Amino acid sequence: MRIAFYQTSPVYGEIEYNVREALETLAAARADLYVLPELFSTGYLFGSRKELGRLVERVPEGPTVGVLHKFCRSRGCAIVASIAEVDRGNYYNSAVLISPRGLLGKYRKIHLFDRERLWFQPGNLDFGVWTFKRARIGLMICFDWVFPEAARVLALKGADIICHPSNLILHYCQDAMVTRSIENGVFTVTANRVGSERAEAVQLTFSGRSQITDPKGRVLARAPKVGRKFQVVDIDLSLTKKKKLTPRNHLFHDRRAKYYKEITRPTRR
Ligand code: ACM
Repeated sequence: MRIAFYQTSPVYGEIEYNVREALETLAAARADLYVLPELFSTGYLFGSRKELGRLVERVPEGPTVGVLHKFCRSRGCAIVASIAEVDRGNYYNSAVLISPRGLLGKYRKIHLFDRERLWFQPGNLDFGVWTFKRARIGLMICFDWVFPEAARVLALKGADIICHPSNLILHYCQDAMVTRSIENGVFTVTANRVGSERAEAVQLTFSGRSQITDPKGRVLARAPKVGRKFQVVDIDLSLTKKKKLTPRNHLFHDRRAKYYKEITRPTRR
Protein backbone atom coordinates (compact mmCIF):
# COMPACT_ATOMS: atom_id res chain seq x y z
CA MET A 1 0.00 0.00 0.00
CA ARG A 2 1.23 3.49 -0.83
CA ILE A 3 0.42 6.29 1.59
CA ALA A 4 1.23 10.00 1.55
CA PHE A 5 1.01 13.23 3.45
CA TYR A 6 0.96 16.76 2.15
CA GLN A 7 2.29 19.37 4.59
CA THR A 8 0.37 22.44 3.43
CA SER A 9 0.43 26.16 4.12
CA PRO A 10 -3.18 27.21 3.64
CA VAL A 11 -4.28 30.80 3.02
CA TYR A 12 -6.70 31.73 5.79
CA GLY A 13 -10.33 31.76 4.65
CA GLU A 14 -9.59 30.84 1.01
CA ILE A 15 -11.29 27.46 0.85
CA GLU A 16 -11.49 27.13 -2.92
CA TYR A 17 -7.83 28.04 -3.39
CA ASN A 18 -6.61 25.78 -0.57
CA VAL A 19 -8.54 22.75 -1.82
CA ARG A 20 -7.44 23.26 -5.43
CA GLU A 21 -3.80 23.80 -4.44
CA ALA A 22 -3.81 20.65 -2.31
CA LEU A 23 -5.36 18.46 -4.99
CA GLU A 24 -3.02 19.78 -7.69
CA THR A 25 -0.13 18.71 -5.49
CA LEU A 26 -1.58 15.28 -4.67
CA ALA A 27 -2.13 14.66 -8.38
CA ALA A 28 1.65 14.70 -8.90
CA ALA A 29 2.14 11.21 -7.43
CA ARG A 30 -0.09 8.19 -7.15
CA ALA A 31 -0.96 6.87 -3.70
CA ASP A 32 -3.73 4.75 -2.21
CA LEU A 33 -4.24 7.04 0.76
CA TYR A 34 -3.41 10.74 1.10
CA VAL A 35 -3.53 12.59 4.42
CA LEU A 36 -3.97 16.37 4.63
CA PRO A 37 -3.60 18.62 7.72
CA GLU A 38 -6.21 19.75 10.23
CA LEU A 39 -8.52 22.46 8.81
CA PHE A 40 -6.49 22.39 5.60
CA SER A 41 -9.26 24.13 3.67
CA THR A 42 -9.96 27.10 5.95
CA GLY A 43 -6.86 27.81 8.01
CA TYR A 44 -6.94 27.69 11.78
CA LEU A 45 -7.00 30.95 13.73
CA PHE A 46 -10.59 32.18 13.44
CA GLY A 47 -11.22 35.76 14.55
CA SER A 48 -14.54 34.80 16.14
CA ARG A 49 -17.21 32.15 16.08
CA LYS A 50 -19.12 34.37 13.67
CA GLU A 51 -16.17 34.41 11.29
CA LEU A 52 -15.95 30.62 11.49
CA GLY A 53 -19.65 30.54 10.64
CA ARG A 54 -18.79 31.83 7.14
CA LEU A 55 -16.34 28.95 6.57
CA VAL A 56 -18.10 25.87 7.94
CA GLU A 57 -19.55 23.24 5.62
CA ARG A 58 -22.00 20.41 5.92
CA VAL A 59 -20.57 16.90 5.72
CA PRO A 60 -20.98 15.25 3.29
CA GLU A 61 -23.18 17.75 1.42
CA GLY A 62 -20.68 20.65 1.37
CA PRO A 63 -18.48 21.57 -1.60
CA THR A 64 -15.13 20.44 -0.16
CA VAL A 65 -16.23 16.86 0.41
CA GLY A 66 -17.68 16.93 -3.12
CA VAL A 67 -14.40 18.03 -4.71
CA LEU A 68 -12.34 15.54 -2.67
CA HIS A 69 -14.75 12.78 -3.66
CA LYS A 70 -14.38 13.60 -7.34
CA PHE A 71 -10.58 13.32 -7.00
CA CYS A 72 -10.86 9.97 -5.20
CA ARG A 73 -13.33 8.59 -7.76
CA SER A 74 -11.16 9.52 -10.71
CA ARG A 75 -8.01 8.05 -9.13
CA GLY A 76 -9.32 5.11 -7.12
CA CYS A 77 -7.76 6.48 -3.93
CA ALA A 78 -8.79 7.68 -0.47
CA ILE A 79 -8.16 11.02 1.22
CA VAL A 80 -8.20 11.93 4.90
CA ALA A 81 -8.65 15.64 5.56
CA SER A 82 -9.91 17.84 8.34
CA ILE A 83 -12.49 20.54 7.66
CA ALA A 84 -14.74 22.86 9.67
CA GLU A 85 -18.15 21.19 9.86
CA VAL A 86 -21.58 22.60 10.71
CA ASP A 87 -24.38 20.37 11.90
CA ARG A 88 -27.63 21.78 13.27
CA GLY A 89 -25.96 25.07 14.19
CA ASN A 90 -23.02 23.40 15.96
CA TYR A 91 -19.49 23.71 14.62
CA TYR A 92 -17.06 20.79 14.76
CA ASN A 93 -13.40 20.40 13.92
CA SER A 94 -13.90 17.25 11.85
CA ALA A 95 -11.85 14.74 9.90
CA VAL A 96 -13.29 12.94 6.92
CA LEU A 97 -12.22 9.77 5.13
CA ILE A 98 -13.28 9.94 1.50
CA SER A 99 -13.11 6.99 -0.88
CA PRO A 100 -14.15 6.57 -4.53
CA ARG A 101 -17.64 5.76 -3.22
CA GLY A 102 -17.96 8.96 -1.20
CA LEU A 103 -17.76 9.66 2.52
CA LEU A 104 -16.50 6.52 4.23
CA GLY A 105 -15.88 7.87 7.72
CA LYS A 106 -16.15 10.98 9.85
CA TYR A 107 -14.62 11.93 13.19
CA ARG A 108 -15.19 15.10 15.24
CA LYS A 109 -12.21 16.22 17.31
CA ILE A 110 -12.80 15.12 20.88
CA HIS A 111 -9.95 16.95 22.65
CA LEU A 112 -10.15 20.61 21.65
CA PHE A 113 -6.95 22.66 21.98
CA ASP A 114 -6.84 26.11 23.57
CA ARG A 115 -8.87 28.68 21.55
CA GLU A 116 -10.68 25.95 19.61
CA ARG A 117 -12.91 25.82 22.69
CA LEU A 118 -14.18 29.30 21.79
CA TRP A 119 -15.34 28.19 18.38
CA PHE A 120 -16.09 24.47 18.24
CA GLN A 121 -18.20 21.94 20.11
CA PRO A 122 -16.20 18.96 21.41
CA GLY A 123 -16.65 15.88 19.24
CA ASN A 124 -19.66 13.69 19.95
CA LEU A 125 -18.84 10.65 17.80
CA ASP A 126 -16.85 7.58 18.85
CA PHE A 127 -13.35 7.09 17.48
CA GLY A 128 -13.87 5.23 14.22
CA VAL A 129 -12.01 2.79 11.98
CA TRP A 130 -13.00 2.05 8.38
CA THR A 131 -11.67 -0.31 5.70
CA PHE A 132 -10.19 0.83 2.40
CA LYS A 133 -8.23 -1.58 0.15
CA ARG A 134 -7.90 -4.02 3.07
CA ALA A 135 -6.34 -1.34 5.32
CA ARG A 136 -8.20 -0.47 8.51
CA ILE A 137 -7.96 3.30 8.78
CA GLY A 138 -8.52 5.19 12.05
CA LEU A 139 -8.92 8.92 12.51
CA MET A 140 -7.78 11.31 15.22
CA ILE A 141 -6.93 15.02 15.08
CA CYS A 142 -3.91 16.93 16.34
CA PHE A 143 -4.17 17.46 20.14
CA ASP A 144 -5.70 13.99 20.50
CA TRP A 145 -2.05 12.86 20.45
CA VAL A 146 -1.57 13.89 24.09
CA PHE A 147 -4.27 11.45 25.18
CA PRO A 148 -2.81 8.00 24.49
CA GLU A 149 -6.30 6.60 24.95
CA ALA A 150 -7.24 7.94 21.49
CA ALA A 151 -4.65 5.92 19.57
CA ARG A 152 -5.20 2.92 21.87
CA VAL A 153 -8.94 2.85 21.20
CA LEU A 154 -8.31 3.10 17.45
CA ALA A 155 -5.79 0.26 17.62
CA LEU A 156 -8.13 -1.91 19.71
CA LYS A 157 -10.79 -1.28 17.06
CA GLY A 158 -8.38 -2.77 14.54
CA ALA A 159 -6.65 0.25 12.99
CA ASP A 160 -3.63 -0.54 10.82
CA ILE A 161 -3.02 3.11 9.97
CA ILE A 162 -3.86 6.02 12.26
CA CYS A 163 -4.35 9.16 10.20
CA HIS A 164 -3.64 12.28 12.20
CA PRO A 165 -4.41 15.61 10.49
CA SER A 166 -2.70 18.29 12.59
CA ASN A 167 -2.00 21.99 13.11
CA LEU A 168 0.69 21.52 15.72
CA ILE A 169 2.00 24.41 17.78
CA LEU A 170 3.90 22.49 20.47
CA HIS A 171 6.97 20.47 19.58
CA TYR A 172 6.42 17.21 21.45
CA CYS A 173 3.96 15.43 19.22
CA GLN A 174 6.21 13.94 16.58
CA ASP A 175 8.24 12.06 19.19
CA ALA A 176 5.08 10.97 20.99
CA MET A 177 3.65 9.52 17.78
CA VAL A 178 6.69 7.25 17.50
CA THR A 179 5.62 5.78 20.85
CA ARG A 180 1.95 5.62 19.79
CA SER A 181 3.11 3.47 16.87
CA ILE A 182 5.23 1.13 18.99
CA GLU A 183 2.76 0.65 21.84
CA ASN A 184 -0.10 -0.07 19.42
CA GLY A 185 1.77 -1.78 16.58
CA VAL A 186 0.34 0.56 13.94
CA PHE A 187 1.41 2.99 11.25
CA THR A 188 0.74 6.65 11.99
CA VAL A 189 0.54 9.51 9.52
CA THR A 190 0.77 12.97 11.06
CA ALA A 191 0.02 15.55 8.36
CA ASN A 192 0.94 18.87 9.92
CA ARG A 193 0.94 22.34 8.39
CA VAL A 194 3.45 25.19 8.25
CA GLY A 195 3.17 28.96 8.18
CA SER A 196 1.83 31.53 10.63
CA GLU A 197 -1.56 33.07 11.30
CA ARG A 198 -2.48 36.17 13.26
CA ALA A 199 -5.77 37.28 14.81
CA GLU A 200 -5.73 40.42 16.98
CA ALA A 201 -2.96 39.94 19.57
CA VAL A 202 -2.47 36.23 18.88
CA GLN A 203 0.08 34.86 16.46
CA LEU A 204 0.54 31.14 15.88
CA THR A 205 3.36 29.45 13.98
CA PHE A 206 2.78 25.87 12.95
CA SER A 207 5.59 23.41 13.44
CA GLY A 208 5.75 21.25 10.30
CA ARG A 209 7.75 18.01 10.63
CA SER A 210 4.91 15.91 9.29
CA GLN A 211 5.80 12.26 9.51
CA ILE A 212 4.94 8.63 8.86
CA THR A 213 5.96 6.05 11.46
CA ASP A 214 5.81 2.27 11.25
CA PRO A 215 4.74 -0.27 13.93
CA LYS A 216 8.34 -0.55 15.17
CA GLY A 217 8.60 3.20 15.63
CA ARG A 218 10.77 3.76 12.58
CA VAL A 219 10.24 7.17 11.01
CA LEU A 220 9.65 6.34 7.34
CA ALA A 221 9.25 9.95 6.26
CA ARG A 222 9.63 13.30 7.94
CA ALA A 223 9.11 16.73 6.44
CA PRO A 224 11.13 19.81 7.38
CA LYS A 225 9.99 22.35 9.99
CA VAL A 226 9.25 24.94 7.33
CA GLY A 227 7.93 24.75 3.80
CA ARG A 228 5.31 22.70 2.05
CA LYS A 229 6.20 19.04 1.55
CA PHE A 230 4.47 16.21 -0.28
CA GLN A 231 5.82 12.78 0.57
CA VAL A 232 4.82 9.28 -0.53
CA VAL A 233 5.86 6.02 1.15
CA ASP A 234 5.24 2.33 0.40
CA ILE A 235 4.24 0.38 3.50
CA ASP A 236 3.86 -3.30 4.31
CA LEU A 237 0.48 -3.59 6.02
CA SER A 238 1.23 -7.08 7.32
CA LEU A 239 3.55 -5.51 9.94
CA THR A 240 0.52 -4.35 11.91
CA LYS A 241 -0.60 -7.95 12.43
CA LYS A 242 2.56 -8.73 14.39
CA LYS A 243 1.54 -7.56 17.83
CA LYS A 244 4.05 -9.72 19.71
CA LEU A 245 7.05 -7.91 21.20
CA THR A 246 8.61 -11.18 22.43
CA PRO A 247 7.41 -14.79 22.05
CA ARG A 248 5.59 -14.31 25.37
CA ASN A 249 4.38 -10.73 25.10
CA HIS A 250 1.43 -9.55 23.02
CA LEU A 251 0.58 -5.84 22.93
CA PHE A 252 -3.14 -6.41 23.35
CA HIS A 253 -3.51 -9.85 24.97
CA ASP A 254 -1.18 -8.85 27.81
CA ARG A 255 -3.28 -5.86 28.78
CA ARG A 256 -4.57 -6.07 32.38
CA ALA A 257 -7.63 -3.90 31.92
CA LYS A 258 -8.97 -4.52 35.42
CA TYR A 259 -6.03 -2.49 36.74
CA TYR A 260 -6.77 0.44 34.43
CA LYS A 261 -10.11 1.51 35.88
CA GLU A 262 -9.00 5.11 36.55
CA ILE A 263 -8.54 5.57 32.82
CA THR A 264 -12.26 5.51 32.12
CA ARG A 265 -13.34 7.43 35.21
CA PRO A 266 -14.01 11.15 34.57
CA THR A 267 -11.48 13.46 36.26
CA ARG A 268 -12.83 16.42 38.26
CA ARG A 269 -11.71 19.90 37.15
C1 ACM B 1 -4.03 21.42 17.88
O1 ACM B 1 -4.73 20.54 18.35
N1 ACM B 1 -4.35 22.03 16.74
C2 ACM B 1 -2.79 21.82 18.55
